[in-house]
Amino acid sequence: MSSIIAPSILAADFGNLQRDCEMVNNSKADWFHLDIMDGVFVPNISYGMPIINTINKIATKTLDVHLMIVDPDRYIETFKKIGADILTVHFEACTHLHRTIQNIKANGMKAGVALNPHTSAHLLSDVLNDIDLVLVMSVNPGFGGQSFIENTYQKIKDLKKMREESRSDFIIEIDGGVNSTNAPKLIEVGADALVAGSFVFKSENPTKTIEDLKNC
Ligand code: DX5
Ligand code: ZN
Repeated sequence: MSSIIAPSILAADFGNLQRDCEMVNNSKADWFHLDIMDGVFVPNISYGMPIINTINKIATKTLDVHLMIVDPDRYIETFKKIGADILTVHFEACTHLHRTIQNIKANGMKAGVALNPHTSAHLLSDVLNDIDLVLVMSVNPGFGGQSFIENTYQKIKDLKKMREESRSDFIIEIDGGVNSTNAPKLIEVGADALVAGSFVFKSENPTKTIEDLKNC
Protein backbone atom coordinates (compact mmCIF):
# COMPACT_ATOMS: atom_id res chain seq x y z
CA MET A 1 0.00 0.00 0.00
CA SER A 2 1.38 3.43 -0.89
CA SER A 3 1.66 6.14 1.72
CA ILE A 4 -0.86 8.91 2.30
CA ILE A 5 0.26 12.29 0.90
CA ALA A 6 -1.12 15.43 2.54
CA PRO A 7 -0.08 18.74 0.93
CA SER A 8 0.00 21.54 3.50
CA ILE A 9 -2.08 24.50 2.35
CA LEU A 10 0.06 26.81 4.52
CA ALA A 11 2.48 26.93 1.58
CA ALA A 12 -0.22 27.55 -1.06
CA ASP A 13 -0.74 30.89 -2.84
CA PHE A 14 -3.64 32.45 -0.88
CA GLY A 15 -4.33 34.79 -3.78
CA ASN A 16 -5.05 31.69 -5.83
CA LEU A 17 -6.49 29.45 -3.14
CA GLN A 18 -9.18 27.95 -5.35
CA ARG A 19 -6.64 27.10 -8.06
CA ASP A 20 -4.28 25.46 -5.55
CA CYS A 21 -7.10 23.47 -3.90
CA GLU A 22 -8.28 22.26 -7.31
CA MET A 23 -4.70 21.22 -8.08
CA VAL A 24 -4.76 19.07 -4.92
CA ASN A 25 -8.19 17.66 -5.88
CA ASN A 26 -6.86 16.66 -9.30
CA SER A 27 -3.56 15.26 -8.02
CA LYS A 28 -2.57 11.95 -6.43
CA ALA A 29 -2.76 13.59 -2.98
CA ASP A 30 -4.96 11.88 -0.39
CA TRP A 31 -5.65 14.62 2.16
CA PHE A 32 -5.60 18.40 2.58
CA HIS A 33 -3.39 19.29 5.58
CA LEU A 34 -4.63 22.49 7.26
CA ASP A 35 -2.45 24.21 9.87
CA ILE A 36 -4.19 26.36 12.47
CA MET A 37 -1.85 28.57 14.56
CA ASP A 38 -2.96 30.89 17.35
CA GLY A 39 0.14 32.99 18.02
CA VAL A 40 0.21 31.61 21.59
CA PHE A 41 1.03 27.90 21.36
CA VAL A 42 3.31 28.72 18.43
CA PRO A 43 4.96 32.05 17.55
CA ASN A 44 2.91 32.55 14.40
CA ILE A 45 -0.71 33.02 13.29
CA SER A 46 -1.88 31.23 10.15
CA TYR A 47 -5.54 31.29 9.11
CA GLY A 48 -8.88 30.48 10.67
CA MET A 49 -12.47 29.40 10.24
CA PRO A 50 -13.49 31.35 7.08
CA ILE A 51 -10.54 29.94 5.14
CA ILE A 52 -11.26 26.37 6.25
CA ASN A 53 -14.90 26.86 5.36
CA THR A 54 -13.87 28.03 1.89
CA ILE A 55 -11.44 25.13 1.41
CA ASN A 56 -14.17 22.71 2.52
CA LYS A 57 -16.44 23.94 -0.27
CA ILE A 58 -13.76 23.26 -2.89
CA ALA A 59 -11.99 20.18 -1.51
CA THR A 60 -13.07 16.72 -2.60
CA LYS A 61 -10.65 14.97 -0.22
CA THR A 62 -10.23 14.42 3.53
CA LEU A 63 -9.56 17.57 5.59
CA ASP A 64 -6.72 16.80 7.99
CA VAL A 65 -6.73 19.70 10.48
CA HIS A 66 -3.65 20.28 12.66
CA LEU A 67 -4.41 22.56 15.61
CA MET A 68 -1.38 24.41 17.00
CA ILE A 69 -3.50 26.22 19.57
CA VAL A 70 -3.91 26.29 23.34
CA ASP A 71 -7.11 24.93 24.86
CA PRO A 72 -8.37 23.30 21.63
CA ASP A 73 -11.51 21.94 23.37
CA ARG A 74 -13.14 25.34 22.86
CA TYR A 75 -13.37 24.82 19.09
CA ILE A 76 -13.96 21.09 18.55
CA GLU A 77 -17.62 21.48 17.52
CA THR A 78 -16.80 24.42 15.26
CA PHE A 79 -14.13 22.50 13.37
CA LYS A 80 -16.60 19.67 12.79
CA LYS A 81 -19.14 22.15 11.41
CA ILE A 82 -16.68 23.64 8.94
CA GLY A 83 -15.62 20.29 7.55
CA ALA A 84 -12.74 18.75 9.53
CA ASP A 85 -12.52 14.98 9.08
CA ILE A 86 -9.41 14.45 11.21
CA LEU A 87 -8.73 16.80 14.12
CA THR A 88 -5.25 16.71 15.64
CA VAL A 89 -4.36 18.46 18.89
CA HIS A 90 -0.93 18.91 20.45
CA PHE A 91 0.05 16.72 23.39
CA GLU A 92 1.77 19.79 24.90
CA ALA A 93 -1.42 21.90 24.68
CA CYS A 94 -3.84 19.50 26.42
CA THR A 95 -4.10 19.16 30.19
CA HIS A 96 -6.90 16.58 29.86
CA LEU A 97 -5.81 14.86 26.67
CA HIS A 98 -7.99 11.78 27.17
CA ARG A 99 -11.09 13.95 27.53
CA THR A 100 -10.16 15.99 24.46
CA ILE A 101 -9.69 12.83 22.36
CA GLN A 102 -13.10 11.49 23.44
CA ASN A 103 -14.69 14.84 22.66
CA ILE A 104 -13.25 14.87 19.11
CA LYS A 105 -14.55 11.34 18.48
CA ALA A 106 -17.95 12.13 20.00
CA ASN A 107 -18.21 14.92 17.43
CA GLY A 108 -17.73 12.41 14.62
CA MET A 109 -14.12 13.12 13.67
CA LYS A 110 -10.96 11.03 13.77
CA ALA A 111 -8.73 12.07 16.66
CA GLY A 112 -5.02 12.76 16.26
CA VAL A 113 -2.31 13.78 18.72
CA ALA A 114 0.76 15.75 17.62
CA LEU A 115 4.17 15.50 19.30
CA ASN A 116 6.69 18.33 19.30
CA PRO A 117 10.28 17.27 18.48
CA HIS A 118 11.20 17.19 22.19
CA THR A 119 8.17 15.12 23.26
CA SER A 120 8.77 11.40 23.70
CA ALA A 121 6.46 8.96 21.89
CA HIS A 122 6.24 6.98 25.13
CA LEU A 123 4.11 9.71 26.71
CA LEU A 124 1.26 8.44 24.52
CA SER A 125 1.36 4.89 25.88
CA ASP A 126 -1.87 5.26 27.89
CA VAL A 127 -3.97 6.54 24.97
CA LEU A 128 -2.71 4.41 22.07
CA ASN A 129 -5.98 2.53 21.76
CA ASP A 130 -8.01 5.74 21.83
CA ILE A 131 -6.38 7.61 18.96
CA ASP A 132 -6.63 7.35 15.18
CA LEU A 133 -3.43 9.19 14.32
CA VAL A 134 -0.11 10.38 15.76
CA LEU A 135 1.40 13.42 14.07
CA VAL A 136 5.17 13.44 14.53
CA MET A 137 6.51 16.97 14.19
CA SER A 138 9.80 16.80 12.30
CA VAL A 139 10.32 20.56 12.76
CA ASN A 140 9.34 22.87 15.61
CA PRO A 141 5.75 23.84 14.81
CA GLY A 142 4.93 27.36 13.68
CA PHE A 143 6.44 27.83 10.25
CA GLY A 144 6.74 26.15 6.89
CA GLY A 145 10.04 25.75 5.10
CA GLN A 146 12.21 24.63 8.04
CA SER A 147 14.83 21.87 7.99
CA PHE A 148 13.92 18.31 8.90
CA ILE A 149 15.06 17.07 12.34
CA GLU A 150 16.86 13.73 12.07
CA ASN A 151 15.66 12.38 15.43
CA THR A 152 12.28 11.86 13.76
CA TYR A 153 13.32 8.46 12.38
CA GLN A 154 13.84 7.05 15.87
CA LYS A 155 10.49 8.41 17.04
CA ILE A 156 8.72 6.69 14.15
CA LYS A 157 10.43 3.41 15.05
CA ASP A 158 9.34 3.82 18.68
CA LEU A 159 5.74 4.47 17.65
CA LYS A 160 5.68 1.52 15.29
CA LYS A 161 6.90 -0.79 18.07
CA MET A 162 4.38 0.68 20.52
CA ARG A 163 1.59 0.17 18.00
CA GLU A 164 2.49 -3.50 17.56
CA GLU A 165 2.80 -4.14 21.29
CA SER A 166 -0.51 -2.42 22.11
CA ARG A 167 -2.32 -3.95 19.10
CA SER A 168 -3.56 -0.50 18.17
CA ASP A 169 -3.96 0.84 14.64
CA PHE A 170 -3.24 4.58 14.61
CA ILE A 171 -1.75 6.22 11.51
CA ILE A 172 1.79 7.61 11.85
CA GLU A 173 1.95 10.98 10.05
CA ILE A 174 5.11 13.11 9.62
CA ASP A 175 5.00 16.89 9.36
CA GLY A 176 7.80 19.34 8.58
CA GLY A 177 10.67 19.50 6.11
CA VAL A 178 9.48 16.46 4.17
CA ASN A 179 10.94 16.11 0.67
CA SER A 180 11.77 13.39 -1.83
CA THR A 181 15.18 12.84 -0.20
CA ASN A 182 13.89 11.94 3.28
CA ALA A 183 10.52 10.46 2.21
CA PRO A 184 11.82 6.98 1.25
CA LYS A 185 13.55 6.53 4.62
CA LEU A 186 10.51 7.89 6.50
CA ILE A 187 8.33 5.29 4.80
CA GLU A 188 10.92 2.56 5.34
CA VAL A 189 11.00 3.12 9.11
CA GLY A 190 7.19 3.21 9.40
CA ALA A 191 5.56 6.49 8.33
CA ASP A 192 2.05 6.00 6.89
CA ALA A 193 1.30 9.63 5.95
CA LEU A 194 3.55 12.48 4.81
CA VAL A 195 2.69 16.18 5.04
CA ALA A 196 4.55 18.39 2.59
CA GLY A 197 4.15 22.15 2.24
CA SER A 198 7.04 24.03 0.65
CA PHE A 199 8.35 21.00 -1.20
CA VAL A 200 5.03 20.72 -3.08
CA PHE A 201 3.87 24.31 -3.53
CA LYS A 202 7.26 25.91 -4.21
CA SER A 203 8.11 23.32 -6.83
CA GLU A 204 7.77 23.97 -10.55
CA ASN A 205 5.12 21.31 -11.03
CA PRO A 206 3.22 20.64 -7.76
CA THR A 207 1.04 17.92 -9.32
CA LYS A 208 4.14 16.02 -10.42
CA THR A 209 5.87 16.59 -7.05
CA ILE A 210 2.85 15.05 -5.28
CA GLU A 211 2.97 12.09 -7.65
CA ASP A 212 6.71 11.64 -7.02
CA LEU A 213 6.13 11.61 -3.25
CA LYS A 214 3.30 9.13 -3.70
CA ASN A 215 5.63 6.82 -5.64
CA CYS A 216 8.39 6.95 -3.02
C1 DX5 B 1 4.49 23.58 10.63
C2 DX5 B 1 3.25 22.95 10.02
C3 DX5 B 1 3.49 22.20 8.78
C4 DX5 B 1 4.06 23.01 7.64
C5 DX5 B 1 4.98 22.11 6.90
O1 DX5 B 1 4.20 24.03 11.90
O2 DX5 B 1 2.64 22.06 10.94
O3 DX5 B 1 2.34 21.48 8.35
O4 DX5 B 1 3.09 23.50 6.76
O5 DX5 B 1 5.64 22.85 5.96
P1 DX5 B 1 6.96 22.35 5.24
O6 DX5 B 1 6.58 21.08 4.51
O7 DX5 B 1 7.29 23.48 4.35
O8 DX5 B 1 7.98 22.08 6.30
ZN1 ZN C 1 0.95 20.73 10.18
